[in-house]
Formats: sequence, C-alpha cells, structure tokens
Amino acid sequence: MCGIVGFTGMQEAAPILLDGLKKLEYRGYDSAGIAVMSGKTISVNKVRGRIANLCEKTKDGTSVPGPTGIGHTRWATHGAPTEENAHPHLSNDGRFAVVHNGIIENYLTLREELLRDGYQFQSETDTEVIVHLLELYYKGNVRDALLKTANRLRGSYALGVICSDEPGKIYAVREASPLILGVGIGENYFASDVTALVSHTRNVIYLDDGEFAELSGMSIRIFDCSGTEIRKKTTRILWDVQAAEKGGYEHFMLKEIMEQPGAVRAAIAPRIKNGKVIFEELGAFLPALPDIRKIIITACGSAYYAGCAGRYALEQLCGIPVEVELASELRYLNPLVDGHTLLIVISQSGETADTIAALKECKSRGAKTLAIVNVVGSTVAKLADCTVYTWAGPEIAVATTKGYTTQIAVLYLLAICFADHLNRLGKDEAAMLDTLQALPRRIQQAIDMNPAIPELAKKYHENHAFFFIGRNTDYAVALEGSLKMKEISYLHAEAYAAGELKHGTIALIDEHQPVIALCCNPFIMEKTLSNIVEVKSRGAEVLALTFRDNQKILPVADDLLFIPKVDALFSAVIEIVPLQLLAYYVAKENGCDIDKPKNLAKSVTVE
Ligand code: G6P
Repeated sequence: MCGIVGFTGMQEAAPILLDGLKKLEYRGYDSAGIAVMSGKTISVNKVRGRIANLCEKTKDGTSVPGPTGIGHTRWATHGAPTEENAHPHLSNDGRFAVVHNGIIENYLTLREELLRDGYQFQSETDTEVIVHLLELYYKGNVRDALLKTANRLRGSYALGVICSDEPGKIYAVREASPLILGVGIGENYFASDVTALVSHTRNVIYLDDGEFAELSGMSIRIFDCSGTEIRKKTTRILWDVQAAEKGGYEHFMLKEIMEQPGAVRAAIAPRIKNGKVIFEELGAFLPALPDIRKIIITACGSAYYAGCAGRYALEQLCGIPVEVELASELRYLNPLVDGHTLLIVISQSGETADTIAALKECKSRGAKTLAIVNVVGSTVAKLADCTVYTWAGPEIAVATTKGYTTQIAVLYLLAICFADHLNRLGKDEAAMLDTLQALPRRIQQAIDMNPAIPELAKKYHENHAFFFIGRNTDYAVALEGSLKMKEISYLHAEAYAAGELKHGTIALIDEHQPVIALCCNPFIMEKTLSNIVEVKSRGAEVLALTFRDNQKILPVADDLLFIPKVDALFSAVIEIVPLQLLAYYVAKENGCDIDKPKNLAKSVTVE
C-alpha cells in the first residue's frame, strides 16, 4: 500500500523525508512526492516511478530547503500512476498540502459537491477531495478544519497535512489506516510504518482510529475525534529495521495473511452503496449483460482457484452457466466464444503470460472481457474491455494470500451486481450484502479462533504428503489450501473432490497420509462426513476444518480448525485463512524460505 512520512524540527526536512520514503519502498509503489514548507511557502515535488527519480529531481532534497514537510509513496488505486495523481495534493489556494493512505469511499459524492462549489481538481484521486474540504472549512484554525473534514469522510485514511499559515507544524489524522508518531529531541515525525522512523527514533506513539495529532519540533499534542486533547503513552521499539519492514512479522506472508481483513474490506466496502453493489467501472458493460449466455473464468495458479471458488456464487445467483478454465489450456483450446460470452480474467499481477494470451484469444473471437486485477495499469487491466481492481495493496510474498481472497471477494460482488441487474435477487439482496460486509470481521475471527495452528504444525510437519478433501465450495478451497502447502513447505499435497476418493486416491490412504477435510458447507456436510469416516477407517489422521458449533464432526476428526459460520456461498474467503496459516507454520517448522519458495516466481511472464 501507499506510505506516509512527516517531519518537523531544525534539520532540513527533504533529505529526511526522502530517506523515510526509501524505507517504505518495500511496500510497493508507483509514484512518490514530497511537500516541504519553508516559512509560509510550500513546495511540492512529485514523480512517477522510483524514489530515485524524486532524489534526482530535488538534488537529494537540497533544492527544496525548509525544516517541515510531508512525503508519500503511492500505489495507484483511484487513477493511473501519473505525476498528477501522485501525492501530496495541494488546495486551490495553495495553503494546504495533503498525503493520504487508504480509500475515501464517498469521494465521488464529495467531488461532485466540491465541483459545484467551484473547486478545481488536478487529479483523478479520491484523496484530492480532502485538501479541498480543508480549504472549504478553514476559517483560521487548522484543527477545526481537520475535524470538520474528517467528519465528512467515509472509508479508511491516514492523513499527513501541512498548512502554510502554520510554519513548523505537521498534522496527522488516523481512521482505519496505520499512523505512528515518532518522538525525537527537538524534532518529531510521523509515518504509516515504523520502518520509516526507526533510524531516527525508537520512541513512538501509536495513534488510534479517530485520533489526530499536531506536531511541532518541540511538542506533540493528540486529540480525539471531538477535538478534546488526550494523553497517550510512548512505546519503545525494539525491532531491528528488517523486522520493522515486515511490521514486526517474521515473514511477509504472515503479514499479508494478517492484512486480509483490511484488504477484503478495501475490496468490498467502497462498492456497496445505498443497499446496492455499484461498480462504476462496469457502466458500459452492464446493459449488455442480459445477452450473455455463458461466462468463462480464466486465470493461472491461485487466481484460477479463486475463480473455482467464486464460480458458485456467480452461477447460482445469475443463472448463467460458468466454466472455469486454466489460461494455459484455454489459449490453445480453440475456444468456442462469441459476443454472448463473458470472459472474466483474474490476475493479481496483471502480467501473467498465459492469462494475457487467453484474454487476447477470446477477445479476438468476440467475447466480452472483464478483468479482476490488483496491479493498476498492468497489461491485463489495459487489454480487457473493463477492469475491476481488487485493491489488495502490494503483495510481496511469492505465495499469494490477500491477492487470492480479494479476488474472491470481487467475484462475490460481481455475482450480486450481475444478479441484481438481471432482476434475480429480490429480498435476499440485503441479507447477502450484510454477509459480504461482515466478511472482513469473519476473516479476523477465523484468525483469532485458531491459536493452536503452530502446535498442529508441529504435529503434522513431518508427514510427506497431505490430502485435502471437500465437496462443492469446500473442494474449491481445498485446491488453494493444498497449493499453499506445496508451494511453501515443499510437501506433497493433493486436493480431491471428496466424492472422487473412491475412484483411485483412497488406495493411497494410510496412517502416513493425513487428510485435511473441509466440512464447512452444510448442504453437502453428511456426504463429506461419510468420506471422512472412509479415510479414518484406513488409518488416516483427520484434521477437519469446520464451523465452531459443528458437533457432528467431533466423533470423526482427530484435530480441528475453525471458521465462524457463514453462508456457504460466501465462505471460501474465510475457509482459506486457517489453511494459509497451517501451510505457513508447517513450512516454518521445516525451515523453508517462506517468502521466496524455491523455483517459484511472483509473476510468471513467460509461457
Ligand atoms: C504465480 C504466483 C501465484 C499466482 C499465479 C498467477 O504462480 O506464484 O501466486 O497465483 O502466478 O499470477 P497472477 O499474477 O496472474 O494472479
């Protein structure tokens, strides 16, 4: 995701801001910028691409003197990665500069309102509404303007703000996006991530949601959302710098697993408005939907498995047949597609060679094409007729986690949006939207409910092979669960549709092959339970994944993983989380290089 830094003190701000931004590079970004205040003058410098370009543009910061400033690395969400869209953004009167992490969900409404009020927009970002609101509400008191502005914003934001009327001051505001104050001697800092702070100070204050801070070189004042001053404790950071880059987690993969509640929220929340799923991106496509006779989902690796998991909701809610095809197969299949086919292409990177080829092949045959992509401006995003972003933020571990869950979340949203457009939802829509909006919370519960996973990994890590079984939606998740296990632990893991066991695989089952049984779909529960009994009677140990109050599983499972109860049509996004953690801890027990598994690449750009 994006990164934020802020500095005020006696030293030159720009080199410190640039250094802080470099420390945030690992998070991934595609443009960067700084705003430095000298006296009452604010100078903004922004670049597309690397921090190195910003260093070159500002002569390592020496061309922008001044002791106060804010900086930002942007990972494009709303609007392409251009210089105009890079932060900081300036108010029309030049008085305020703002950097922002997060997503302003109601930015379109605010933008229209501000345009009506005569404010000029220089960018396509959601962020720019903030700086114009500050100008609108500013009547000589920055704190008041910040409070009034924050009151109008819906979504998640960490903000860094400077105002030319207050030289030497920087402001920080936090709502559902991390922001940490760094306490120095005669100088103070803020950053979205301790990484940018630890080389300057190890004394930090963590802002909580709804709080904001006013920093000068000599003081830090913190206020709650009503504007009342509050006191907060200072914490001493003991991590080394490398650990801090991972936010204190030992591996990026674990960090990214833990980021999933926030990532899925960012994918879902801005798209639900007034009891409807709204995709601004699909405006031109939706009128053609009633003519669609078949949907093909295509992708590679985990993105393909996300398609397998999301197809159930799409097919059942829309009543349109859905096929899920591996892109490497589809491209050579001489696919039978035409203008009545919708091809949904899924890709985290947007650069996977087979996925691009399958997209081109189907497009050339007349299929309508829709891409679900994480990386803004990537090849798949550019080639498809329309693109829906997952907004998962940069994923650094090779084995995808939040990339995969946000892809499924978007497929759920598309299923509801399409079904609504086809008049197939009726009164069920509100309940479904409630379920979707609760998914981030449920993911967090799935993490919290399974503290025993590291212990289970100790029990199971010496096995050489695992079988993952399940039916229907559980089977789709089993596919990704087994892929996670083999990718990072190098243990053989195979997913089987539980009903297929008798057609061969059961010959392999004995006491040395633990079976991970997914049992989260009540519709098919009894059948899976019979399959579990079958493998148990052949000596297999069974680790069952199920919802917490499922008593039926107790007599047949040796060990349990839990999820909170969720409508099975939308549960894949929750079910996978304990399996990601299991794969992670098994790989850790086996001493594997978790973030960079051998022979694998994050983005497979060759056939
Ligand atoms: C590689 C990655 C996987 C990913 C797959 C498809 O194999 O290691 O994590 O699922 O490519 O990548 P994409 O970027 O198209 O989603």
